Amino acid sequence: MKIGICNDHAGVDYKNGIIGYLEGKGYETVNFGTDTKDSMDYTDVAHPLAKAVEKGEVDLGIAFCGTGNGMAMTLNKHNGIRAGLAWSEEIGVLVKQHNNANVLVMPARFIDFETVKKIADAWLGTAFEGGRHQKRIDKIPL
Ligand code: RB5
Repeated sequence: MKIGICNDHAGVDYKNGIIGYLEGKGYETVNFGTDTKDSMDYTDVAHPLAKAVEKGEVDLGIAFCGTGNGMAMTLNKHNGIRAGLAWSEEIGVLVKQHNNANVLVMPARFIDFETVKKIADAWLGTAFEGGRHQKRIDKIPL
């Protein structure tokens, strides 16, 4: 499983941390984010990650910015992306179970790294429920 990781300047530390954590578990990662804390525009890294997920170049994505909102807004402009914002383990489960999020977005400035790992594990370890949720996600693209 190949996971694209994306971040702006607010998410550099968590990007580096989650790459180490996931690679330690056997996932392959691709770094789409900035590697410095110099201010930059999250759009410039979110669009390339979205395109890579849509083309199947990576299986899933994980994105960080300060609140998570800029990343989620940008990623969700792409019809093939369901980017879900999660800030707790329970939401990490639900965003896969109910929404089949193919990109997990987390708010780097509002959660600690232990929570980041728990959310990522929850999202990766949960299956999409399908059924009524499939009908709903089928209605998302414009
Ligand atoms: C950067 O200061 C901040 O605006 C960005 O990381 C993010 O929170 C935007 O939604």
